Amino acid sequence: MKKIFNTDINEKNINEVVTLYGWVSKVRNLGGLIFIDLRDRSGIIQLVVNPDNSYYETALSLKNEYVISVTGKVVKRSNVNENLKTGSIEVNVESLEIINTSKELPIQINDFSNTLEDTRLKYRYLDLRRKPLINNLELRHKITMSIRNYLDKLNFLEIETPILCKSTPEGARDYLVPSRIFNGKFFALPQSPQIYKQLLMVGGIERYFQIAKCFRDEDLRADRQPEFTQVDVEMSFVDENDVMNIGEKLVANIFKETKGIDIQLPLRRMKYNYAMNMYGSDKPDLRFDLKLIDITDIFKNTNCEVFKNTIDNGNIINAIVLENKADKYSRKEIDKLNEFVKTYKSKGLIYIKYDNEFSGSIVKNLNTQELDTLKQVLNLKNNDIVFIIADNKKIVKNALGALRVKLAKDNDLIKKDDYQLLWVTDFPSFEWSEEESRYVACHHPFTSPVDTDVDKLLNDKENCYSKAYDIVINGYEAGGGSIRIHKEDVQEKMFKALELTEEDIKEKFGFFVDALKYGTPPHGGFALGLDRLTMILSNTENIRDVIAFPKTASSNDLMSDAPNVVSVSQLNELGIKVK
Ligand code: AMO
Repeated sequence: MKKIFNTDINEKNINEVVTLYGWVSKVRNLGGLIFIDLRDRSGIIQLVVNPDNSYYETALSLKNEYVISVTGKVVKRSNVNENLKTGSIEVNVESLEIINTSKELPIQINDFSNTLEDTRLKYRYLDLRRKPLINNLELRHKITMSIRNYLDKLNFLEIETPILCKSTPEGARDYLVPSRIFNGKFFALPQSPQIYKQLLMVGGIERYFQIAKCFRDEDLRADRQPEFTQVDVEMSFVDENDVMNIGEKLVANIFKETKGIDIQLPLRRMKYNYAMNMYGSDKPDLRFDLKLIDITDIFKNTNCEVFKNTIDNGNIINAIVLENKADKYSRKEIDKLNEFVKTYKSKGLIYIKYDNEFSGSIVKNLNTQELDTLKQVLNLKNNDIVFIIADNKKIVKNALGALRVKLAKDNDLIKKDDYQLLWVTDFPSFEWSEEESRYVACHHPFTSPVDTDVDKLLNDKENCYSKAYDIVINGYEAGGGSIRIHKEDVQEKMFKALELTEEDIKEKFGFFVDALKYGTPPHGGFALGLDRLTMILSNTENIRDVIAFPKTASSNDLMSDAPNVVSVSQLNELGIKVK
């Protein structure tokens, strides 16, 4: 290959004649001398063209993003540019060829592009020329290489599983693919390779992994895409500790190999109930404190109507103390927070400020003893502000959990380059779905209950806990997994607990329940969200920044304009008529 990367050239090459290829990033004509910033994937190198050069006119005609090749001598630069890897050298151009021209660009290609994201997504192939995006894709590549090498050494086999699958929706909505040969029937794209990886264990593979594409037709958030990638892992003859052990070593190895960051192992483990109580989240961000404090008991005999009603209705009161920031919170600021917690179904946010004395909306309704106890329990100091929500437990935890993160961000309480990893364990098996008015699986229906809770599957769902675990990094759910049910009778019980009828079970999961009858080994595994992991390691909060061709928040592709209308003849072949 004749192409060398710009940043491979350094002072060692001084006086050598090199040939370089790339894009014109910038041209400056400084009193005769023409300076060209030549960009390639690796970075920028400065080219210089003298007025007596026979290619001078060609150099003058260059515009941004022209593709050129140059040959010239590497020389030392008089004024070093510390911002460039090649900043101590430049290339004195001897010959210059324009390989291709470029139209004027619809977006600017510089590292700090202010262009609207939608425009950047429309011209993604141009946006990809920006260094920050190239860096993210490079990091993503390093992460997958590190994973493959690590798991290969432990005898895991990388195995592909089908993309055209049977539709068994349980969780998110499926993306469906109509069948031409079987009109009226559909494949589904996999939400994850869950059933296949378990069948690989039935198949005796013992250790499997895959960098797997997954598809979920769900509402998107900043850390979600309809099409995303999992590092999917499954193992036989293991328990929870074995799986978490491999999972955390794999993740720590990624941190070390790609960013040189040491992660202290074993990772901290936190039970789901504790995480919800203290942080109002099953993915607590431990880079800052701001715990939720239960103050219900302080107001057991209160005359304050809001608190009294709360307690009489069996609900709770929780507080967060923001230290030494009371003066930062004007009425207007607090109103904004009030609106914020309302999006989490809270009826309202109560605040109390302390500065030698108490102030705030509710203070006049509280007696001295209550205020004194509050001061003591919350360890209040001057200029502290307390945020309180009184409501049912779910709303209190969710709303204060979200407020906790917002307060930390708004007040710069999050240290840079701090990575706080933990396992959240002992998830409930079920959660109540208001939408469906039934219990749904908290993880998925193949998750094993803890041994002592198998009998609770049918008659005490509220108190049934599972052998499931999530790995959480800086408040993101970076991955999750579980020990699976490997006994046919327990799996059937689980399906029944999820209110699937015999017919449903047979139609949707018959093949899977059948497979469990033929000597299924105990097994378990996990899946890491590769996109999220890359996001965290590249310090972005936007998942699209780590995907070459992402979808928008409304799940479409602005560049190719997918999804699109298809021809009537295509639809006829599929036996489909659009309503
Ligand atoms: P789960 O549904 O928790 O588990 O997914 C595993 C991890 O995948 C990532 N993830 C996503 N990333 C981007 N966009 C999305 N829409 C999205 N949805 C999930 C998250 C998540 O932790 N089969 C099980 C794993 C197992 O039990 O082994 C599964 O899919 O980081």
